[in-house]
Amino acid sequence: MSTSAVPVNLAERLAQFSELWSQKKVAVLNDYEVKLAKLKGEFVWHTHEDTDELIMVIGGRLTIRLRDGEVVLEPGELFVVPRGVEHCTVAEEETAILLLEPAGTLNTGEAGGPMTKAAETLDSRCCVKLRASSDRPPRTTSGDTSSLGPSPPWHR
Ligand code: NI
Repeated sequence: MSTSAVPVNLAERLAQFSELWSQKKVAVLNDYEVKLAKLKGEFVWHTHEDTDELIMVIGGRLTIRLRDGEVVLEPGELFVVPRGVEHCTVAEEETAILLLEPAGTLNTGEAGGPMTKAAETLDSRCCVKLRASSDRPPRTTSGDTSSLGPSPPWHR
């Protein structure tokens, strides 16, 4: 890890990617990772048998469904999903979250399936990252993004 004294600016890091449901590592502490993700829609029900999972909302609004209820997080709010507790995240609008959990924790926990994705590292040097066209998310012809309203505050 770099020891350079440079802050991690969450807004800048969020501006580096648009991919949904993909965790991006922005910091490491001991054997834990701090990750960012953008969500929209409904994830899969899953459980992390070996670890708690901290989820904090930066922008947007997140519902964490639990089998015995649900938790709604607004920006600046966090919730720790206890280990072994089944949960499913739902975001009606595009929502940016910060995750804190042990390195190697899979997004789908024990559930597996097509949404399973290992966390990726964001380039920490510059917020303006030029990407190959193959890295861009597929454009949808049916989706009218203008109906989504103004860009979320983390989009600059
Ligand atoms: Ni989880």
